[in-house]
Amino acid sequence: MVYSEKLLKKLLILHHLIQKNEWSLLELSWETGIPSDKLSKIIKEMSKNYLIKLENNKIIWSPADNPSTIRPWGWRLIHKVLVGSTQQVAKGYGPWSIVVAEYQLEGRGRYGRKWLSGLGGLWITASMSLSNEEAALLPIAVPVITLRSLETQFGINAKIKWPNDIIVDGRKVAGILIEAEAFPNRFITYVGIGVNVNNDISLEDATSVKNIVGSIVPRNKILATIIGWFSRIRKLVDDREELVKQYMNNLDTLNRRVIIETVQGTIEGVVVDVSEDGSIIVESKAKKISLDPSDVYKLRYID
Ligand code: BTN
Repeated sequence: MVYSEKLLKKLLILHHLIQKNEWSLLELSWETGIPSDKLSKIIKEMSKNYLIKLENNKIIWSPADNPSTIRPWGWRLIHKVLVGSTQQVAKGYGPWSIVVAEYQLEGRGRYGRKWLSGLGGLWITASMSLSNEEAALLPIAVPVITLRSLETQFGINAKIKWPNDIIVDGRKVAGILIEAEAFPNRFITYVGIGVNVNNDISLEDATSVKNIVGSIVPRNKILATIIGWFSRIRKLVDDREELVKQYMNNLDTLNRRVIIETVQGTIEGVVVDVSEDGSIIVESKAKKISLDPSDVYKLRYID
């Protein structure tokens, strides 16, 4: 993989902006060693992916777009410019940490697929220490939380494609990766969420909040809402019926004819239900088959 010099310069600039939202052009030019004419050109380019502007020779990054400005109560927020994968970094911190990265070199999707993680997206992993009951509900809770945060903050009408892709008009706007380590009576869970917010999209079947809303948005609105819900995960479990109802009401996959690639082979059928642990029930050749998300490589609609 070849990374461009432009990208490195942007990462260097972000490294400074993370610590201080406002810089004079000259000061940042001295700090980074990038000549000020080049610097102003790069800042202009960065304003396509960040709420960054250059005004009266001042570079200003909106604090609402800089995750470092958030101080979530009861959490440790670790904001990094460049990582391999936030899933990996989160394992080095204790529970109730949230790792946010501006760029991932090794962003991971489900089944070890690559997750493209360009500048302007929201790439996070939250590590939480949860009871078995709470952890078991995550496959249902996390998509609902992600979908709700897009809806309440930007009025986006997203749907869930099973197991937990967040889609708008058939295109993926967010993906979720849940990993866990088991301990006696507890799980340390690593909930990875990737939201295409202001990043550029190169895939046909993906979209971004920027594309949907029509302008660049402050990422902290999404981040703060998601963290707020994670802090109240107990409440979601206590009201699990409501949670399951919300999941089902927003499930795009229900009653759809699908082809599913599983570990054992391909299944064609109609999705008739999803159980509380997140397994899908498919009716195929007059038989009902229950499939766990970890059994499924790929699910495709055929109607
Ligand atoms: C998927 O849809 O396959 C899941 C994608 C999950 C991507 C997020 S981005 C933050 C976290 N770090 C990763 O490497 N992956 C998850």
